[in-house]
Amino acid sequence: MAAETENRKAEHLKIAAEGEVQFKGKTTGFEKVGFKGVDLEYRALPEIDKKDVRLETEFLGKRFKAPLMVEAITGGVKEAKKINKDIAKACEALGLGMGLGSQRAMIEFPELKETYFVRDVAPNIFLAGNLGVTELGKCSLEEIEKALEEVKADALAIHINAAQAALQPEKETNFRGRLKEIEKLVQGLKKPVYVKEVGHGIGFETAKALAETGVKAIDVGGAGGTS
Ligand SMILES: Cc1cc2nc3c(=O)[nH]c(=O)nc-3n(C[C@H](O)[C@H](O)[C@H](O)COP(=O)(O)O)c2cc1C
Repeated sequence: MAAETENRKAEHLKIAAEGEVQFKGKTTGFEKVGFKGVDLEYRALPEIDKKDVRLETEFLGKRFKAPLMVEAITGGVKEAKKINKDIAKACEALGLGMGLGSQRAMIEFPELKETYFVRDVAPNIFLAGNLGVTELGKCSLEEIEKALEEVKADALAIHINAAQAALQPEKETNFRGRLKEIEKLVQGLKKPVYVKEVGHGIGFETAKALAETGVKAIDVGGAGGTS
């Protein structure tokens, strides 16, 4: 069955590289209420020396040179090995963070785990491990801890993908009770946990419910961060 997982992951990469994947009609919504756009006022006399502008920041215990990270993309397929290492090298050089793709494949098929290994080329970056929320009930806490140790991750990103799962025949579509599972994981896991979506963002009500579980952060990216 490793082959089926690998095929699906290879297909994701191919579609992202070659397909028409950009949002076409996604906007900020300002035009619906009569705005043509937003211009930020230019401060002609800024009363600051550019040398004092610092983009460095800290996130979940790691230093970033700028508040940016490359989102979770891949792992668990042959091509992922080079892609992950290339992304990691760039992040190490620029001082940015990186997310690994879902580690389900390496938990199920240990022979795929090296496609996620990047610490040899990126010893210092913030690195997030990754699992789908629907995997939480299927993996033990020990399996999750082990998967994070093996890739030397600093934190675990839990992805939610209800809309995507509804369209992909092999995906788990039961999202009942997942908030409780996140809460249980947050309490049990040694590393910090944060939550993300896979392309549709996270709205106010969901963010509020997630904040109450004790997750350390919520990644609202989706359509370029419009959420
Ligand atoms: C090819 C591809 C594979 C992805 N794989 C994962 C994944 O394994 N785990 C995950 O959490 N998100 C995955 N994502 C979602 C991204 O991490 C990110 O959340 C998404 O692109 C939305 O952010 P954006 O609109 O700012 O691009 C994937 C996205 C793409 C395009």
